[in-house]
Amino acid sequence: MPSSPLDFQLSAPDEPVLASARLSAVARSRYAEDRLRTSGLRQHIVLGAGLDTSAHRAPGGVRTWLVDLPDVCAWRTSLFRRAGVQDAGVPVAVQLGADPLVPALAEAGVELDQPAQVSCLGVVMYLGLEDLAAVLADLRALRAGSSLVTDHVLPPRDRDAAGRSYAAALSGMAGGVGEPWLSTATPEHWAGVLGDAGWDVVESCPEASTLALRSHPLLRPQRLVQLTRAVRREQE
Ligand SMILES: C[S@@+](CC[C@H](N)C(=O)[O-])C[C@H]1O[C@@H](n2cnc3c(N)ncnc32)[C@H](O)[C@@H]1O
Repeated sequence: MPSSPLDFQLSAPDEPVLASARLSAVARSRYAEDRLRTSGLRQHIVLGAGLDTSAHRAPGGVRTWLVDLPDVCAWRTSLFRRAGVQDAGVPVAVQLGADPLVPALAEAGVELDQPAQVSCLGVVMYLGLEDLAAVLADLRALRAGSSLVTDHVLPPRDRDAAGRSYAAALSGMAGGVGEPWLSTATPEHWAGVLGDAGWDVVESCPEASTLALRSHPLLRPQRLVQLTRAVRREQE
C-alpha cells in the first residue's frame, strides 16, 4: 500500500497522468533553475519545496532555503537521512498563509538586505486567494531586484484539449496528485495580482513552450500551466 506521494509515483511509473505530472515538475524546476543561474542572485528561497532538489544543482555560492509545512520538512529530512545524503538546503517549517514567512526566513539565515530568487512552484494552485495574498504581502519585505518565479494553472477556457483532459484525469486521481486546485488565473490576471503586490512581470510563457518534446507515448505538450518570472520593483 503506497504511503506517500513518492511511493504512489513509484508504484505506477508508466501511468500516463503520473508521467505527465513528473514531466511538469521537471519542466518548472528547470525553468526556475535556469533563471537562478543567469540572474547571479546568491539566495534562493523555495516555497512549498516538497522534495525539490535544486539546491543540489545550484551554482557555487548560492544558498537555498526550503520552505514547507513542518510535517513535510520532517518527512524530507527523514528521507535524506535514510538515503545517507546530506541535504543542501536549509529547511524552514512554515505554513504559508498562516505563519509569518519573513521572520522565519531571517531566522534561518536569509539576508533581507540582499536580493533573492523566490521559486514558488506547484504551490499557487493549492493556495486559496487569502493565503496567496498573505504570502505576497510577506514577500514585499524582499529587496528590490529580487526575482519571483511561479507556475499557475490557467482557467478552463484557456486550456487546450490536452490540458483539459489531463486536468480531468488528474482531478479523478487519489494519492496526493489529485488535490483540488483552489486558484486559476489568466496570464493577464496573474500579472495584475503580482503587480499589485510590487512585482513586475518580465516573462510569462506556457510551460509546454519550455519543453522540446520528442514523440513519446506518455508525454504530450498541453496548454494548462503558465510559468512567470517577476522582479521586485523599487519600494513604493
Ligand atoms: C505539488 S507540491 C510541489 C513541490 C515542488 N515545489 C515542485 O515543484 O514539485 C506542493 C508543496 O507545497 C507544500 N504546501 C502546500 N501548502 C502549503 C502551505 N500552506 N505552506 C507551506 N507549504 C505548503 C506541500 O506540502 C508540498 O510540498
